[in-house]
Amino acid sequence: MPVVADARVLTTLPLFQNLPDAQIQQLNAALRRRQFLAGVDIITAEQPGEVMYIILSGTVKIYAEQADGSSVILAILGAGEIFGEMSILENIGRSATVVTLEESTILWMDRLTFEASLRDIPGMSQNLVRIFSRRLRLANAQIQALATLDVFGRVARQILAFAHEYGQQQPNGVLIPLRLTQSDLAGMVGASRVRVNQVLVFYKQQSYISVDQDARITVFNQAALAARCQ
Ligand code: CMP
Repeated sequence: MPVVADARVLTTLPLFQNLPDAQIQQLNAALRRRQFLAGVDIITAEQPGEVMYIILSGTVKIYAEQADGSSVILAILGAGEIFGEMSILENIGRSATVVTLEESTILWMDRLTFEASLRDIPGMSQNLVRIFSRRLRLANAQIQALATLDVFGRVARQILAFAHEYGQQQPNGVLIPLRLTQSDLAGMVGASRVRVNQVLVFYKQQSYISVDQDARITVFNQAALAARCQ
C-alpha cells in the first residue's frame, strides 16, 4: 500500500526533490509510516542503526547525554528533515538520541531499502549530499555563535536560524512552527533555562517576538534580533 495517498507529497521533501515520477512511486511503495506521541525516544545513542526516518509533520530533538547527566542539544528538526541515516551509512552505532517534542508523523525505511534506493536513484544520493552540506553549514553557524556571542546574541541567532529554516510568513510576522520550550532553547545555546527565560522576556517586552501557549515563537522584528548577533 502507498505510504501517502498523493505521491506528490513526497516530492516536497528535500530527500526526494526533483526525482522522476517512477522513482517517487517506487519510494511511495517502499516507505512505511508511523505516528509517535510527544516524548517518545525514536533513537537511542549507541544502539545499532537499522532504520532511517523522514519527518512528515512534528518536531524532534537530537541530543547527546553527558557523563554528568546533562545533555547537549545538537539540533531540533521539523517537517521535511531526515534523521537516523548516519549510523546506516557509517555502519556504526547511533551518534545521538532522538526524541519527539510533540506528536509527529514519521516516514521510515529499513537499512536495505535505504541502501538500495541510494544505489538505484542517483538523484536521491545528490539530495542527501545537499542535506549533509546544509547540516554542516548550520552546525558551523552554531559553533561560531557559541564561540563569539553572549546569551542574548545566541538566543537571537537561534531564533533567526529557525525562522530562516522553517518560518511561515504571517500577516504580522514569521511563525516558527516548531515546539521550542525554554529548556530546549537553553540546551541549544549552552545557557541555563533561567537565563534564556530572562532573554525571552526582554525580547517579548521589546515586541521582537511573541511565544504562544504551544511554545511556538513568532518573530516580529528580525532586524532587531540580527543586530543582537553582531
Ligand atoms: P544516527 O547516528 O543514525 O542517529 C542519530 C541521528 O541524529 C543521526 O543519525 C543523524 O541523523 C542525527 N544527527 C546527529 N547530529 C546531527 C546534527 N548536528 N544535526 C542534525 N541531525 C543530526
